[in-house]
Amino acid sequence: MRVVVTGAAGFIGGQVTDALSHAGHEVLAVDAPGRALCPDAARPGWARLAGRPGVTRIEADLALDDLAGLVEADAIVHLAGRPGVRSSWGAGRALAERDNVTATRRLLEACAGRPARLRPRVVVASSSSVYGSAGLRPNREDDALDPASPYAVSKVEVERLTRQAARDGLRTVLLRYFSVYGPRQRPDMAFHRFVEAVLDGRPLPVFGDGRRSRSFTHVGDVAAATLAAVAAELPPGIAINVGHPEPVRVRAAIELLTGVLGVPAEIRSETPVAGDATRTWADPGRAARLLGWTAQTALAGGLADQISWHRGLRVHEEVRAG
Ligand SMILES: NC(=O)c1ccc[n+]([C@@H]2O[C@H](COP(=O)([O-])OP(=O)(O)OC[C@H]3O[C@@H](n4cnc5c(N)ncnc54)[C@H](O)[C@@H]3O)[C@@H](O)[C@H]2O)c1
Repeated sequence: MRVVVTGAAGFIGGQVTDALSHAGHEVLAVDAPGRALCPDAARPGWARLAGRPGVTRIEADLALDDLAGLVEADAIVHLAGRPGVRSSWGAGRALAERDNVTATRRLLEACAGRPARLRPRVVVASSSSVYGSAGLRPNREDDALDPASPYAVSKVEVERLTRQAARDGLRTVLLRYFSVYGPRQRPDMAFHRFVEAVLDGRPLPVFGDGRRSRSFTHVGDVAAATLAAVAAELPPGIAINVGHPEPVRVRAAIELLTGVLGVPAEIRSETPVAGDATRTWADPGRAARLLGWTAQTALAGGLADQISWHRGLRVHEEVRAG
């Protein structure tokens, strides 16, 4: 299959690109690394894909450039966008609107402009944040949405556009990702900040009291679910949770993480972020039924995997510095 991956320079996009090319697909990797929330991570993420067999890179801003030539594919995995609840307040609101909503609208319009039999299947990244905080049971896909930040509001609009495109004849599917972690995690995300703090000998910067809980989901599992969504025949416009079914408190995750690193947990509490859910909790039933997918990676092993990546990065930097 010929598959376009938007946001291929990013954290999840890089892993999905690797998984697709390992599975023998031809990948058209699309990104505008300068637009990333963390450009210092996206630029090496983009460079990493250069010269990779079966992967062609195209630099394009989805909110601005002509997309007609980009959508000539069997499938599109649309991961490009402006992630993050915290950074979506203030000036971030317009950026979330531009790189999530406008970019998605333009991409879907370009797909709809293809002759009907040549229209690609489109897998679109959404987020657990559309639910707001989970209650006493896991969130199912048909629960009412309660977005509590400009980022979450932008993803609700992305979902509306994606469902509308399905009604207009595109084969679209929405994947609601839950707190993704693992190698190459974005530098603004919790585990990345925690591991770097420990390796630097600093206290861990924790927003709030550490009692929040998350369906932390390893990026390898997320890539597997995304590939399954590319291959499956699914009801057009459907949303599917991609999340680990067992939420873990941030405090417990820190204990696991410092246990793997072999240091005591020294925490510096920071003001909680407005709009940050107290709990995210994925009901895994629909993903199991429609994709044959459930998260496989337990948090302890997944964190060990991420920590190895951080250590490797430091060794690499030391070697480069001579
Ligand atoms: N990481 C998570 O835990 C998580 C959770 C839920 C949803 N998501 C969603 O998954 C997707 C990928 O997240 P990520 O963590 O890999 O983020 P990321 O920032 O690492 O990757 C996003 C990529 O999109 C690119 N991009 C941004 N605007 C663009 C534009 N206008 N044109 C072309 N490229 C553009 C960036 O350069 C970046 O490389 C996002 O849509 C995000 O909202 C992520």
